[in-house]
Amino acid sequence: MKFAMTLKQLLLLMLLILGGLQFVPVDRTNPPVESTRVGPDGIMNVFRRACFDCHSNETVWPWYGQVAPFSWLVARDVNRGREKLNFSTWNRLDMRQQEKLQAEIWKRVKSGDMPPPFYNLGHPEALITTDDHPVLRKWCRVEAGG
Ligand code: HEC
Repeated sequence: MKFAMTLKQLLLLMLLILGGLQFVPVDRTNPPVESTRVGPDGIMNVFRRACFDCHSNETVWPWYGQVAPFSWLVARDVNRGREKLNFSTWNRLDMRQQEKLQAEIWKRVKSGDMPPPFYNLGHPEALITTDDHPVLRKWCRVEAGG
């Protein structure tokens, strides 16, 4: 038996596999929004601009998110993001849980961890700058120097 493949056959095989991947179902839903705002306009503008695609039920699914295997990566990020922090279901958290997340949000933003740098490549408007810091610090109840 011979397994030698021409380049043309290899490309065709790859196309077939890629085509097949498109039939794997991906969960790309936006469940109902329970809380529409977690604070005043200032902080909502920051969160909407930079976080809502992964941390709310108002995700704007990108065009590359329609094509497997990228769609799997996007859906995975959104589902993991929502699991940890979902502004659309903020109402479900008790005071202690909210305070914990507020502290965590400031930590992750200050360290440049959130939004993820790869996301900023495609969404330059989501970049958090030091101009955004005062409103974030205030909402996250960060003590002076923190
Ligand atoms: C591209 C998707 C994406 C965007 C945009 C994004 N995040 Fe995240 N975020 C994630 C994912 C995925 C996780 C879970 C994995 C991890 O902890 O790194 C996460 C985790 C977090 C956590 C940790 C929660 C916990 O309790 O562990 C915080 C806080 C957070 N994000 C805040 C933010 C904030 C604030 C913004 C906007 C300024 C933001 N994220 C933007 C995807 C995103």
